[in-house]
Amino acid sequence: MLPMPTEPKNDRFLRALRREPTDTTPVWIMRQAGRYLPEYRATRARAGSFMALAQNPELACEVTLQPLERFDLDAAILFSDILTIPDAMGLGLGFVAGEGPKFERPLRNAADIAALAVPDMEGELRYVMDAVRLIRRELAGRVPLIGFSGSPWTLACYMVQGEGSRDFARAKALAWNDPQAMHRLLDVLARAVAAYLSAQAAAGAQALMVFDTWGGLLSPPMFRELSLRYLAQVTERLKADPHAAELPLVLFSKGAGAHIEALADTGCAALGLDWTVDLGEARRRVGDRVALQGNLDPSVLHAAPDVIVREVDGAIEAFGNHSGHVFNLGHGITPDVDPEHVKVLVDAVHAAGRRMRTN
Ligand code: CP3
Repeated sequence: MLPMPTEPKNDRFLRALRREPTDTTPVWIMRQAGRYLPEYRATRARAGSFMALAQNPELACEVTLQPLERFDLDAAILFSDILTIPDAMGLGLGFVAGEGPKFERPLRNAADIAALAVPDMEGELRYVMDAVRLIRRELAGRVPLIGFSGSPWTLACYMVQGEGSRDFARAKALAWNDPQAMHRLLDVLARAVAAYLSAQAAAGAQALMVFDTWGGLLSPPMFRELSLRYLAQVTERLKADPHAAELPLVLFSKGAGAHIEALADTGCAALGLDWTVDLGEARRRVGDRVALQGNLDPSVLHAAPDVIVREVDGAIEAFGNHSGHVFNLGHGITPDVDPEHVKVLVDAVHAAGRRMRTN
């Protein structure tokens, strides 16, 4: 085992997740290392493809640190993807330019699902753990490092559909027509997700996040059965895990604003929110059970700087003068955003957070 580096110098993010007081509101941005940055595009071109970039720990480390050089961010997030688990399970991940992810061998029937096993975290997925170890060393405590995974339901969506989709109709059809196979899939994924996050914790991640990007596609009973239930299993397993038990876990279930009380009841540290919920109302609904992360509409970054500042101020005011807020967008930043607008947003968060605490 590597000796653990010293504690982060900027611990606002971890303090906010523990709902402790901070000097200002911490901020990071989903997909902060991505195509809107010319330096990211240059490194990806050097790697040859997105997967070659993600599978090279030195280059993954380089792009993880790029946004921190430009902006006063309070956390770094591992550069990788949620689809590394299905790839390691043998589905063969590729990215078609302009079309998004595609699996060579999507799951077609119950037999395909029965053949799946939890991948070896220091085998097929060693490149992810090597990246975590390297990034943690290179960060040298500047800011904490977030490890992440997709949720069982969201991974199942891609694995059954075989590619991105608006409605993941094929995955939902499997849930209706062979619920036993769907539950078998979600069960092996819940074990894989917990093992993956535990391995990232052991490798040096300091907070963990689960992306349930497609939770909002489900009706309330189906959400509880296919998404929430397996998020709760992951949370429980991590609480019993020697590496992950002490790390704050953020659950982000996009489009699931109707379920935030139930999500908070899983025992996670924080909830990620999209922009369809009001931050102040969400805080009143979950009380002091969890911290909240979010939730500006990413399209605000296309607005003029004065509008960005106004919208940031509005979100900080909506949350109010309470501990437990991590500022973020409500979903990932899009490739067409001007990096100068990101700087405006990050600096506006810190300024508004300071004002909120002194007024
Ligand atoms: O946030 C970060 O900076 C860390 C890296 C990260 C990526 N993907 C890099 C990436 C994270 C946390 C993810 C999560 C992810 N990946 C999610 C959940 C979050 C969300 O956005 O809902 C999902 C659904 C995926 C699957 C995925 N990966 C899709 C649908 C795509 C193609 C669409 C797109 O946005 O381009 C990817 C590719 C991907 N993952 C890119 C990046 C920077 C772009 C690929 C490229 O460089 O061409």
